[in-house]
Amino acid sequence: MQAGDHVSDRYELTYPIGRGGMGQVWAGHDVRLERQVAIKFLRQAEVPEDERDVAVRRFQREARVVARLDHPGVPAVHDLGEYGDDLYIVMQFVRGLTLADRIAEQEILDVGEAASIAVQVCAVLATAHAASLVHRDLKPQNLMLTEGRTVKVLDFGIAALLGPAEASRLTATGSTLGTPAYIAPEQAAGGPVGPGADLYALGCILFEMLAGRPPYEATSAVGMLRQHRYAPIPILSDHRPDVPEDLAHLVFCLLAKNPADRPASATDVERLLRPFLPRGAVVGQPPCRCPGCHRFSG
Ligand SMILES: Nc1ncnc2c1ncn2[C@@H]1O[C@H](COP(=O)(O)OP(=O)(O)O)[C@@H](O)[C@H]1O
Ligand SMILES: [Mg+2]
Repeated sequence: MQAGDHVSDRYELTYPIGRGGMGQVWAGHDVRLERQVAIKFLRQAEVPEDERDVAVRRFQREARVVARLDHPGVPAVHDLGEYGDDLYIVMQFVRGLTLADRIAEQEILDVGEAASIAVQVCAVLATAHAASLVHRDLKPQNLMLTEGRTVKVLDFGIAALLGPAEASRLTATGSTLGTPAYIAPEQAAGGPVGPGADLYALGCILFEMLAGRPPYEATSAVGMLRQHRYAPIPILSDHRPDVPEDLAHLVFCLLAKNPADRPASATDVERLLRPFLPRGAVVGQPPCRCPGCHRFSG
C-alpha cells in the first residue's frame, strides 16, 4: 500500500495518517465525489490466522454500527469494501489533531477546555448507549479535536453491542480488548462490560487532561490492570490544586471501582460537567466570526 494507489477505482491514497493493531488509516481522495476522505484498512496478513474470521466480522460491524449512529460527534461512514485480501472503511476525513497530541502539546488543559471536550464525548456516549453500544476503548488517541474545537469519537473497532449473542461471541475472542491506561476494573477483570466502562474511561481521560498524566501508571500492562482493579483512587486535587472541588469529586466518582458507584449515565455526567464550561460556550459549534462579532468584541 502506497501513496497514489487506487482502491476500487474510486479512492486514491494520499498519505498514511494512523496505524493501529490490525491495519492502517490513510488520507485519500474520492475521485468520484472529489472530496477528501479517511480510509481505514484491516490488513488480514497482520492478524493471526485463527483470529482473522472474528477480526473481519468485527471490522464490518464497526462500519455498520458507526454508519447507523449518525451523530455529529462521530465521523460519517461513506463506504465499506474489499481491496485484495484487505477490507476498508471509507469515512469523513476529520481535520484536526487527536486529544493525545493536544495533551502532549499543552501538558495540562484549562478546566473549561477539558469540560467542553468531556461534555461532547458524553453526547456521543449518550447516543451510543441508547443504541445499546459500548465503545470500550475511549482514550485520547481515539478522540479528535477539529479546528472549531468540536470533538469526534473514533474507533468503534472493539465496541460491544449489548444483548445479541452474536455480538458477545464476536467480542469474546481477541487478545487485548481495551487499552490498559483507560480500562475499567470490570473490563480488566474480563467480566461483563456495560456503559459504565465508558464513563470510567472518560474519568481517566478527564484526569489526564487536568493533571497531565493518567490516573495510574505502571511499567507493564498487567501492572496497569492491577492498578485499575485494586489501587486507591487518586485524588485529582493532589495533582492539580486549582481544579474546582465539585469537578475533582465528579472525576473521583467516575473512577469508582464498582460500576454501580459511578454516575448513572452519560447524560448525568454531561449535566454535572456543564457548570465548568467556559462562560458562554456553545458546545459542539464553531464560534461565530461574523463582522458583527468582531465589532462587539472590539
Ligand atoms: N476519520 C478520520 N479522519 C482523520 N484521521 C483519522 C480518522 N480516523 C482515524 N484517524 C487517525 O488514525 C488513527 C487510528 O485510527 P483508529 O480508528 O483509532 O484505528 P485503530 O484501530 O488502528 O486504533 C487515529 O488515532 C487518528 O489519528
Ligand atoms: Mg484507535
